[in-house]
Amino acid sequence: MTSLTDRKNAAISRGVGMTTQIYADRAENSEIWDKEGNRYIDFAAGIAVVNTGHRHPRVIEAVKAQLDRFTHTCHQVVPYENYVELAERLNAIVPGNFAKKTIFVTTGAEAVENAVKIARAATGRQAVIAFSGGFHGRTFMGMALTGKVVPYKVGFGAMPADVFHAPSRSRCTVRLSNSRSAC
Ligand SMILES: Cc1ncc(COP(=O)(O)O)c(C=O)c1O
Repeated sequence: MTSLTDRKNAAISRGVGMTTQIYADRAENSEIWDKEGNRYIDFAAGIAVVNTGHRHPRVIEAVKAQLDRFTHTCHQVVPYENYVELAERLNAIVPGNFAKKTIFVTTGAEAVENAVKIARAATGRQAVIAFSGGFHGRTFMGMALTGKVVPYKVGFGAMPADVFHAPSRSRCTVRLSNSRSAC
């Protein structure tokens, strides 16, 4: 029988790197069970985005309630109240004594791209500084900001201009504690 890894390698672009070969079957709070029934503690949480744990009852309840009403209208075409309400709730908890606004996007790379657009439009300045060793996404500005060439940028040609990299202090600390002299 063909293994899931063989099927994955045949069906999915190799640009999608994978950290493990554990295929999730189900998950509950901080635990994951794989297809063979092995049980794991999930320290990754979808790279720190499942902060409520897997299948939090209030999340499940909210998703079910939404699916019973409608799935998608595209807010830019037909807006809906809970989109506005979520922005209001986020704005209320962000620190700072000034008015805030929110934009919702689908991926981390899209968030990074839009942060650069907003900063450039607001300041009229072009240059962006990122840290060495950091990862910012697979779009072109995400790649340009990413502070590692291999494997992220190899073979993809010219990167957007006006992006500069500074050494990261935390990386220096790690290296110095390993008795290396330079950052
Ligand atoms: C710090 C950081 N920025 C940006 C991204 C890109 O996010 P996405 O893969 O959702 O575009 C990631 C993804 O791992 C990330 O860890």
